[in-house]
Amino acid sequence: MIRPRILLTARWPEAVEAALAERFQVAFNRDDHPFDRDELRQALRDYDAVCPTVVDPLDAGVLDVQPRRCRLLANFGVGLDHIDLEAARRHGIVVTNTPGVLTDCTADLAMTLLLMVARRAGEGERQVRAGAWHGWRPTHLLGTQVTGKTLGIVGMGRIGRAVAHRARHGFGMRILYHHPRPLAAAEGEYCPDLDALLPRCDFVSLHCPGGRRNRHLFDAERLARMKPGSFLVNTARGDVVDTDALIGTLDHGPLRGAALDVYENEPEVDPRLRRREDVVLLPHLGSATVETREAMGFRVLENLEAFFAGREPPDRVV
Ligand code: DGY
Repeated sequence: MIRPRILLTARWPEAVEAALAERFQVAFNRDDHPFDRDELRQALRDYDAVCPTVVDPLDAGVLDVQPRRCRLLANFGVGLDHIDLEAARRHGIVVTNTPGVLTDCTADLAMTLLLMVARRAGEGERQVRAGAWHGWRPTHLLGTQVTGKTLGIVGMGRIGRAVAHRARHGFGMRILYHHPRPLAAAEGEYCPDLDALLPRCDFVSLHCPGGRRNRHLFDAERLARMKPGSFLVNTARGDVVDTDALIGTLDHGPLRGAALDVYENEPEVDPRLRRREDVVLLPHLGSATVETREAMGFRVLENLEAFFAGREPPDRVV
């Protein structure tokens, strides 16, 4: 039997690459370079399935390529805002993702960011490394207490709920959440009106999808509604927050700080953000643990196996 031809657009954990190579004819991106649009178009012409990541822009202009051999986009990751799902549907391309397996890992990172920005951990670390710490003082690098404060969660999906659980049980935080509908088992108070939630929260953590629907959900007007002295944490997608507006709000209030794992034009990070001490900046590390990246890879493998065996892939989105 001829084995399906699969392309990975990036290096994956070794154990997953080995397992894939036993089952499929796999082309690896040996030097791990980012694919450009022409390479993505060529991949759609040449392979039965392409396994992209968040950095591969599979918009209509790329997906429209003809002739096309690819019948499956098996995404390595849960967010799908880099794929034009409408165009995929139009062309009869099946799309799968990897939900569930990165929930705890991403929730852990959201809490890491929240704690870092509240306790000025990045600033402190930079001081120590620069040899600029001159000893304990009662007024040195005073941060903001986290325990007992109010956390607003925007997007109460799997990750939002995992963050709520950690914040409530680990830090005694009060949880408010905004979501398209109230959830039966959610740990927190439902706030249908986002603008009413914001002034009540000491911290706001974003867990909604990116893409057209939520682009600049946090614009200047909305950021201005946040509580004076509060903090914004973003592990969702960069385009949910208007970067110019965020910088303005950090300059003039009401925000005291922001902690970001995602950016509008990754991997570019606005130099105005990079210069600030009141922001924590991480390089899109939400799902970056060995355990999680392996689990994501094996989840893609399950989707590929089901699809090529003529079964419904477990994580089919389109
Ligand atoms: C995800 O899974 O969406 C992560 O952000 C990486 O793509």
